Amino acid sequence: MLKLNWVKLLLLALLLPVAARADEGMWLPLYVKRLNYADMQKKGLKLTAEEIYDVNNASLKDAIVQLGGFCTGEFVSNRGLMLSNHHCGYDALQSHSTPEKNILQDGFFATTPAEEKTNPGLFVDILVRMEDVGSKVLDGVTPQMTEQERTALVQKHQKEIADAAKENGQYVAYVRDFFGGNEYYLFVYQRFGDVRLVGAPPEAVGKFGGDTDNWEWPRHTGDFSMFRVYASKDNKPTAGPLADNVPYQPKKHLPVSLQGVSEGDFAMVFGFPGRTQRFLPAAGLQLTLDQSNPARIKLRDTRLKLWKEDMDQSPDIRLKYASKYAGIANYWKYFIGQNEGMKRLKTVDAKKAEEASLAQWVSADPARSQQYGFALNDINTAYAGLREYNLSSVYMNEAVLGTEVSAFAARMLPLYNLLKDPKADPAAVKKATADLQEPMEEFFKDYNVATDKKVYAALLQLYYNDVPKAQQPDIFRTVEKQYGGSMKKYADYVFANTFLTSKSKVQAFLAKPTLAQLEKDPAFATLNSAYTNYTQNILPKMQALQSPLTRANRAYVAALRAKNTDKVYSPDANSTLRLSYGTVRAYTGRDAVHFDYKTTAQGILEKEDPTNPEFVVPAKELALLKAKDYGRFADKNGQLPVAFITDNDITGGNSGSPVINGRGELIGIAFDGNWEAMTGDLAYDPNLKRCINVDIRYVLWCIEKLGGAKSLVDEMTVVNNGPNPGVGPTAGGVSANLFDVEKMKVKTEDGGKTKVKKKKEKDAAGAGM
Ligand code: ARG
Repeated sequence: MLKLNWVKLLLLALLLPVAARADEGMWLPLYVKRLNYADMQKKGLKLTAEEIYDVNNASLKDAIVQLGGFCTGEFVSNRGLMLSNHHCGYDALQSHSTPEKNILQDGFFATTPAEEKTNPGLFVDILVRMEDVGSKVLDGVTPQMTEQERTALVQKHQKEIADAAKENGQYVAYVRDFFGGNEYYLFVYQRFGDVRLVGAPPEAVGKFGGDTDNWEWPRHTGDFSMFRVYASKDNKPTAGPLADNVPYQPKKHLPVSLQGVSEGDFAMVFGFPGRTQRFLPAAGLQLTLDQSNPARIKLRDTRLKLWKEDMDQSPDIRLKYASKYAGIANYWKYFIGQNEGMKRLKTVDAKKAEEASLAQWVSADPARSQQYGFALNDINTAYAGLREYNLSSVYMNEAVLGTEVSAFAARMLPLYNLLKDPKADPAAVKKATADLQEPMEEFFKDYNVATDKKVYAALLQLYYNDVPKAQQPDIFRTVEKQYGGSMKKYADYVFANTFLTSKSKVQAFLAKPTLAQLEKDPAFATLNSAYTNYTQNILPKMQALQSPLTRANRAYVAALRAKNTDKVYSPDANSTLRLSYGTVRAYTGRDAVHFDYKTTAQGILEKEDPTNPEFVVPAKELALLKAKDYGRFADKNGQLPVAFITDNDITGGNSGSPVINGRGELIGIAFDGNWEAMTGDLAYDPNLKRCINVDIRYVLWCIEKLGGAKSLVDEMTVVNNGPNPGVGPTAGGVSANLFDVEKMKVKTEDGGKTKVKKKKEKDAAGAGM
């Protein structure tokens, strides 16, 4: 019986193209043709696979950029005009703002090149090609090797391959691992270092709804900003902004569709999702749920409240801290939502069940036991060990480095190490000193000493109270003896005596750095004590647990894929270019709560509240909306569309990604995810997970009507080609063709061993957006 089915399935597999589930998946463009194309056509795609990804001819991928390593952008004109999110341009907008000329608050659109604003340090990467380099990376790796030996060899190969692909600095290249180190791919990019700010709506539009609406649907946010990429006269990248540069001519830019969206329309999102951990074992989920997330939430909550107190007192502080605040708040709410969701959806239990069934499958066969039998045991042992040190690690990142003066002091460590070394090369000291200029400028530009002092006292107090004594830095014992354990009294001492909070003193130090001055500085000494404790007492313990964990994870992921041959797994996000596809789709958030698939300007008027800064509507917008002055951007019902949702699988890093219809036209810009699916980075729920997009017609309205910058819209290729391809309206939030997709699940050609062959905020666990 079993055998017959197996033979039948194999035959079927030879006849049918490999199909993947449409709901989950951030797919590598390299394999779209083989793994996803047939399914995408069913959902309404009209392009050829080559029109999506082709290394030899212009294809969609040439219109997509990774912005600054933390967001996505897309070209919308043949003169390098690029769209992304408002929250991706937030830092640039803030840094070009002053209380007198506040473009973050008021918005601005450059309609002449002279008005565009350069952003030294900001870059975009455009993918040239990607390649499966698994066999080269794993060449010489044997099962007998220790994990350290394996890592050393793999890293050596990764570096060699990447270095060769850089072609003497012409390209940026790196090799990333996939599926826990079972597969490796090379990515080669052109990096353009001249990215100029072209415009954005007022903050009250671009961040309408603020932190209240963040991570939630329904949304009424015009979350977009515009940049222009510049290149040399021969269209080549330059390392930074140059006066002679001209607008870059991309190989491909996206036409912009005025057609609008209906439920069931095909939608694909092309971009750079940052990080998902869908293969995180139950023990890892449990640690996140009951240790890491509560600590992060508590520490960020404390920091945000103290920042906000001061921001509310002074417009100058508000502006200085706006971008930092937004970044920290974004993931503060994320961690809250993730934990709520994990409890509601019983994510840990589901993983445990999956692991139990995997264990059963493994132990049913001696060869499998041999190959994978150790994995789950080793994983659980490693996490039991990690649980002892994990809190120290979270507090190092969020409490110690969460205070600005400590984070700045940490930048001094390389220089400190050189000053300590009598044999250090004077040239190296000079370089380490020079390297501090930029961080110094950056630090003092937006720094308020009094604010940071309060944060310093509060966060260190929490560290002192919450982390086991045996794992605390030595300096805490001094605080105990001299200040009775009061971090407030200690902060008074530190801030009265440190030179690190004064720009002129730091400048004087950098002009003639001495070990003695750094060593006796109390802010530096505190950071150094925490850092030394971390690197000597915590990190080695965690690293010792990490090697067996890495090995076990690799086997665990391999076993899962070997067991579930009917499922084509998509690799976890790792900041490489991915494509996700699906449809415009409503959802039911919880019992009896249905969410429509689109919002209109009517909702902006409903949410408007002049007494609440998060829901203020700028006067001009209010007047235009009340007059229903929508121009050519109204929908069929005479409404101004604002946002819509799709069931595309996305995560942080995708921010700014184009939402593209079946004809390859831009219909929206992805900017968020929904509250009900905050566990999405850890476990995917097809019924709940939605991608929140600003409707491109609202974007155009904001530029042309609100911003008065019609010339920027005219520069785009605006099209109106009739209804979008798609599968038609759906019922009850369930995609009409979900069932078709289920039926289409087939075995892969090689019995399931098929490989889904094959980079600031600013990560989920880290700083920000
Ligand atoms: N949650 C969005 C993301 O991570 C960021 C939204 C920015 N808006 C805000 N209110 N912080 O992509």
